Amino acid sequence: MLPTVAAPAAEQVGHDWRSGLPSLTGALVTLRDVRLTDAPSLFTALASHQVSGFISPPPASAEGFEKFIAWTQRMRGAGQNISFAVTPRGSDTAIGLYQVRSLDPGFATAEWGFAIASEFWGTGVFFDGAQLLLDFVFDVVGVYRLEARASVRNGRGNGALEKLGAVNEGVLRRSLFRNGEHLDQVLWTILADDRREARAVLSGRVIH
Ligand SMILES: CC(C)(COP(=O)(O)OP(=O)(O)OC[C@H]1O[C@@H](n2cnc3c(N)ncnc32)[C@H](O)[C@@H]1OP(=O)(O)O)[C@@H](O)C(=O)NCCC(=O)NCCS
Repeated sequence: MLPTVAAPAAEQVGHDWRSGLPSLTGALVTLRDVRLTDAPSLFTALASHQVSGFISPPPASAEGFEKFIAWTQRMRGAGQNISFAVTPRGSDTAIGLYQVRSLDPGFATAEWGFAIASEFWGTGVFFDGAQLLLDFVFDVVGVYRLEARASVRNGRGNGALEKLGAVNEGVLRRSLFRNGEHLDQVLWTILADDRREARAVLSGRVIH
């Protein structure tokens, strides 16, 4: 049997993320609302083929990123999208993005995507930011099922999701059209119950 994990404080549940995202700070990164002024640094961080090869193509210019950021802000206001910029501790420069979009009107089922500048790969930055993001979407937004899709060829993307405890639900055949090819993707999911269990294990509170 799993122990009861403390429920998030009522005021945190009631946080109106639609009017602005809070800043969330971990050991290595801070996640904060993405801003129009992040456009040049996000373009630099995410434009390379190495970063964008297995994801939906990011905007092709800093101006394109500005339009994209303005769109995400409108979608957040409508309660349909959450976009956090990733900044390394001690800097306010955006080096990556976590994005979550609602797959139903109430945000009970959602899909996330993420990308980090390649010089930060393998440093723990992604994992640290993911813990903050997961706590926010499950505890504050109220997501129950969080999906992610990763091309079967995306070793790091699949490895990162597996490390987070996501469950491989199978292959979505030819579900991503990229660079003239129809690629298979793995469907990974994390449920609110999985997350609660993982946190209990991490804090050594599981009683079998
Ligand atoms: C996905 C992403 C954010 C992960 O960040 P990261 O810092 O590379 O991730 P991590 O290093 O913490 O974890 C990746 C894991 O995959 C493992 N891995 C599995 N197959 C791998 C492969 N073919 N090549 C490299 N690493 C691989 C790594 O060893 C690592 O596990 P470890 O820490 O136990 O050694 C980053 O790689 C990225 O921005 N990629 C481009 C965008 C993208 O693909 N987004 C995901 C869409 S689902």
